[in-house]
Amino acid sequence: KDTVPIPQVPGYPLVGNMFDVNAETPMESDMRLAKQYGEIYSLDLGGNRVIHINTIELLSECCDEKRFVKQVPLGMAELRHGINDGLFTARFGERNWDKAHRILVPAFGPLSINGMFDDMKDIASQLVMKWARHGPSHKVLVTDDFTRLTLDTISLCAMDYRFNSFYSDKMHPFINAMNGFLSISEKRAERPAYLSWFYQAEDEKFQKDIKYMRDLSYEIIQHRIENPRRGRDLLDAMLTGKDPQTGESLTEDSIVDNLITFLIAGHETTSGMLSFLFYYMLKNPEAYRKAQQEVDSVIGKESMQLEHLKKLKYIPAMLRETLRLEPTATVIFVGAKNGPELLGGKYYIEPDVPLALQLSAIHRDPAVYGEDADKWKPERMLDEEFAKLPKHAWKPFGNGSRACIGRPFAWQEAMMAVAIGLQYFNFSLDDPAYELEYEPYSMKPRGLYIHAKLRHGWT
Ligand code: HEM
Repeated sequence: KDTVPIPQVPGYPLVGNMFDVNAETPMESDMRLAKQYGEIYSLDLGGNRVIHINTIELLSECCDEKRFVKQVPLGMAELRHGINDGLFTARFGERNWDKAHRILVPAFGPLSINGMFDDMKDIASQLVMKWARHGPSHKVLVTDDFTRLTLDTISLCAMDYRFNSFYSDKMHPFINAMNGFLSISEKRAERPAYLSWFYQAEDEKFQKDIKYMRDLSYEIIQHRIENPRRGRDLLDAMLTGKDPQTGESLTEDSIVDNLITFLIAGHETTSGMLSFLFYYMLKNPEAYRKAQQEVDSVIGKESMQLEHLKKLKYIPAMLRETLRLEPTATVIFVGAKNGPELLGGKYYIEPDVPLALQLSAIHRDPAVYGEDADKWKPERMLDEEFAKLPKHAWKPFGNGSRACIGRPFAWQEAMMAVAIGLQYFNFSLDDPAYELEYEPYSMKPRGLYIHAKLRHGWT
């Protein structure tokens, strides 16, 4: 059967498509190129060919795990210098993934996450206190405060460690090391190997950041071994859990890989989602009013409980719609599992060439979301509508066996943050004319300032 060539974005000798990709905010160039080239195109990044997939139809084929499996190329491969074969960066078939996955699935299950409610509320209350004390004239940089919230929440729930980010103006050094590690990983992937010599200082910082994160993790583990605690968190699950299939435990190195993985995977994505949600909500007064009314009728002036969360319907729709337009993990990589593949019945896919499933473009596919796909409309994500979507139309948490293990964690944490925020405050944009810009090297709104005014009756 004849195949159709995959459009190659024209590049330059040696550097390939380095200048076609916006290194700081890649999803912007991804969306632009998707508009220009359509459902599929190919890029040359630092000598590596990557095929971008931009429609729900093609993505759906790529979600068939009998034909396609996760790949760990480019920036993700660079992350392996710091977190090796931890859950997120493990390659298909690596034994440590199976082992850690089997040990950790129950620890991330709904029952276990419900058990984290009080710890999550502890940190959410710190956010409320901070905003209340600063008062309504204070400009809140939402991205920073949500990063404080999500970092403190994951570290408390994962390993009973308090970063106490709300008590400091500066971010904890771990955050700086982690941000350095993440952004340099991306840069290393995009530069051609022959330029490495010019980047020695950056490479040194890369190694320093990794060492800082790993040393801190070993310290936390050591402290736990010396001071075992009753009750279970993710660290306990890893220290005491045995793989039900082999009876083996995780090695200390593997526990460190996964602890850092949870901190990385578990906080930026959720804080980005919350920040984007606030942007869209405050730009859409009608949705804001509905969300606040829902909180008033479900929670009112009571202290928020787990049971309240289950009754909220509009806030989950806002979260889903936010992750549709701004999937904070913007890309998933897969590759052909069994040799060459024919995608869409016409595109020849060589094994080993990564397919970048571009969620930002895919989630705006007009074939499923219509001509107003670029608009934020929570109504299309209410339970009933959501259930009617085609199977793979909404993929912000990834696919199949390699989908996000932290999804129930993120969901509960975000629901709580939005609900408690709406319960206590009236919010407004500092600049009502603010239009969305992206923060470089991370998937967050840039310079989004809001005001939080305690609602009548809470003073
Ligand atoms: C995997 C998104 C929150 C831990 C993934 C993947 C996506 C994703 C798309 C698949 C990546 C791939 O296929 O390469 C998100 C989003 C979140 C979120 C959008 C928040 C809104 C969390 C949280 C945790 C977490 C809170 C931990 C507590 C992980 C881990 C993996 C993963 C460990 C790797 C799973 C595996 O391959 O076995 N996430 N995530 N994530 N996520 Fe999340």
